[in-house]
Amino acid sequence: MEVIYVKDYEEMSKKGFELIKKVIETKESPVVSLNTGGTPKGLFQHLVEEINQGLDISNTTIMSLDEYMGPKDAVYTVRNFMHKRLFDLIEQQPKNIFLMDGSTEDAESEIKRYKELLENYPRDIQLLGLGTNAHLGANEPGTPFDTTMFLAQHHESTIQSTMKEYGITREEAPTEMLTLGLKEIAEAETVLLLVSGKHKAQAVKDLIEGEISPDCPASILRECKNAIVIVDEDAASLLNK
Ligand code: PGA
Repeated sequence: MEVIYVKDYEEMSKKGFELIKKVIETKESPVVSLNTGGTPKGLFQHLVEEINQGLDISNTTIMSLDEYMGPKDAVYTVRNFMHKRLFDLIEQQPKNIFLMDGSTEDAESEIKRYKELLENYPRDIQLLGLGTNAHLGANEPGTPFDTTMFLAQHHESTIQSTMKEYGITREEAPTEMLTLGLKEIAEAETVLLLVSGKHKAQAVKDLIEGEISPDCPASILRECKNAIVIVDEDAASLLNK
């Protein structure tokens, strides 16, 4: 795992974007798997700007890390985020968009469908954010490192983060999510984790200085040669210097 320290959210977003841009520019049929939430908003802005200035995504496949269980048009869905912050804003569309369907009644079939896509479209890069409890996707603490795509139950801290991010009540907030498992996350050619803010400082400390254990799901990345973590000063503030 390589750790890159940056000053702030903007620098994190720019550096993260540059790595994704490199994949898009250098791979023949790039497969880019994105995540959503507060962390990647800046990266998405760079992506939109550059695509509209000519970055060619006509051969690129876009996938996603996870999806909340709920109606497709609910304010919190990954689908909504991807459309509002990317697909609706760009003047050319990617070759393929493969999102998960969190509105399904049949999670098992949806997992099977998406796992087949993962096999047919090996990811060149997987973008990630870090939970305040060090989760990746919806792999909450305690999830074994060899887990593959599953329907996860959120821990309370994750539900609280979703409520805050989308301005919704406890009743409105989704409690379950389809998510790639830790095994699949680590399998992407490059795994890119962005972390910003003081509220992530303890999770960053656990990730970088704690034990490698399912109690800290993100610690799986410590043993991944293909993992890059970009951390800003606030998120790094509890690390032993
Ligand atoms: P955030 O979420 O980017 O909204 O902080 C990260 C995560 O929980 O995975």
